[in-house]
Amino acid sequence: MSQRKPYVGGNWKMNTNRTTSADLARGVVDGLRDAAHVDVAVFPPFPYLLAVRAILRDRSSSIKLGAQDVYPKPDGAFTGEVSTEMLKDCGVEVVLCGHSERRHVLGESDAHVNAKLRAVLDAGLEAILCVGETLDERNNGHTDPVNQRQVRGGLADVTGDQISRVTIAYEPVWAIGTGKTATPADAQAVHANIRKLIAGMFGQDAAERIRIMYGGSVKPSNAADLFLSPDIDGGLIGGASLKVGEFVPIVRAAASKYTTP
Ligand code: 13P
Repeated sequence: MSQRKPYVGGNWKMNTNRTTSADLARGVVDGLRDAAHVDVAVFPPFPYLLAVRAILRDRSSSIKLGAQDVYPKPDGAFTGEVSTEMLKDCGVEVVLCGHSERRHVLGESDAHVNAKLRAVLDAGLEAILCVGETLDERNNGHTDPVNQRQVRGGLADVTGDQISRVTIAYEPVWAIGTGKTATPADAQAVHANIRKLIAGMFGQDAAERIRIMYGGSVKPSNAADLFLSPDIDGGLIGGASLKVGEFVPIVRAAASKYTTP
């Protein structure tokens, strides 16, 4: 049994509109009203952050408001970008850094991801560092080196105090939105190696505390098996987070793993 509180995020990506984002937020809040022993965050598109925040607040929900991305500079001539202070102003508590779509569709480097993550932590927010190998990298036997490089690069210059506000999401690129999921054994092996790396970088205590989520085609039908693995501390959910009837059972599957220390 894990002493780490499970954590599940719903990454809505570039989906929903003004009406459906509000409906989804209300559905998730109401569906999880009695859910304990699990941390939950939702990541709506930027334009709907304030509306979702109002729903979370009105219903006194403990669900955290998350942002899908951020720009590392505090302000200035960066057309189209959004700063940590703007996100805080909108009630955001947690920010995704280095999601695979930002790395592979929008070309973000480890250095850029690291700058974002440090800006998030310096602003007092929580960060979720996303890492994961492509299918080619996996087929060439590079799964661990790629994930280790992304973890090392993403967490460069993070302090021992700040690491407590970091969660890692292992999302193999080939499993995102494809219906293909890593087997629990494959995912567990990567998670265990990431935890070992964190022990080397930040010490054993930090490694035991840090939560490592799995992401990539998680559904109600495979969530429980994945979350049973000792080093899988929850999930970062894409497609299934857009449906209340799928997201809520996934969160409940994660919650059932936790025992109070
Ligand atoms: P899917 O659950 O749609 O595969 O997406 C996973 C993901 O990228 C979450 O950030």
